[in-house]
Amino acid sequence: MRSKIVAGNWKMNKNLAETDALLAELSAKLPDTTAEVMVAPTFVNLTGALSTLESSTIQVIAQNMHFAENGAYTGEISADMLLNIGINTVIIGHSERRAYFGETDEILAKKVKAALAKNMRVMFCFGEELQDRKSDNHFNIVESQLRNALFDLEASAWKNIILAYEPVWAIGTGETASPEQAQEMHAFIRKTITDAFDVTIANEVSILYGGSVKPNNAVEIFSKPDVDGGLIGGASLIADDFMAIVKAI
Ligand code: PGA
Repeated sequence: MRSKIVAGNWKMNKNLAETDALLAELSAKLPDTTAEVMVAPTFVNLTGALSTLESSTIQVIAQNMHFAENGAYTGEISADMLLNIGINTVIIGHSERRAYFGETDEILAKKVKAALAKNMRVMFCFGEELQDRKSDNHFNIVESQLRNALFDLEASAWKNIILAYEPVWAIGTGETASPEQAQEMHAFIRKTITDAFDVTIANEVSILYGGSVKPNNAVEIFSKPDVDGGLIGGASLIADDFMAIVKAI
């Protein structure tokens, strides 16, 4: 059975004191749930977050990493550095990394391989832009993003993959894909993985939806059979909103 997951991507928000305060509130308010609940604070606050959440089931994950083992890559963070402080899961391919930091499918494929080689879990993000959807090219774009980064992996690597479908036009815009649009794409993703690998892998991988998930739309989106949870940006910065979304799963 695939996991249900709700993850909060804090992006470049919350200083140390604010991180501590939000995490304390989240762990106090966490409802009883079988879903995995994750938060991704900024790099400098990961160690603090791990210690604040020591006795909580909320997992701390990273927003990004570099593909190299180590070396002359000023400003970057390696898989080993994350593992060494106790971070085992990393978000790779967020649309903001693609759009603002020039991360191509080729770079993302290297990052995915580097993380998997260290036995990390990868939350791989992908999704089409508005013009792709308007020109009815969204299935092709999603298929090529998956193929370019993931389809030459060993079948055994898939147990460490979480997918997050995030249509770029829905991220931070307040506009969300309709539950039907999310379901349609998630079913397409599962079929694409079935064709490239097999139906067991396709049925076991958790596929999250991301893009303006809020307390008032989470229940409907999460009720769709191929939606296994959400990657939450803005609403993950407000404890009550994030916890309402966790309850929705
Ligand atoms: P949003 O962000 O929930 O603020 O739209 C989602 C994301 O970027 O993962």
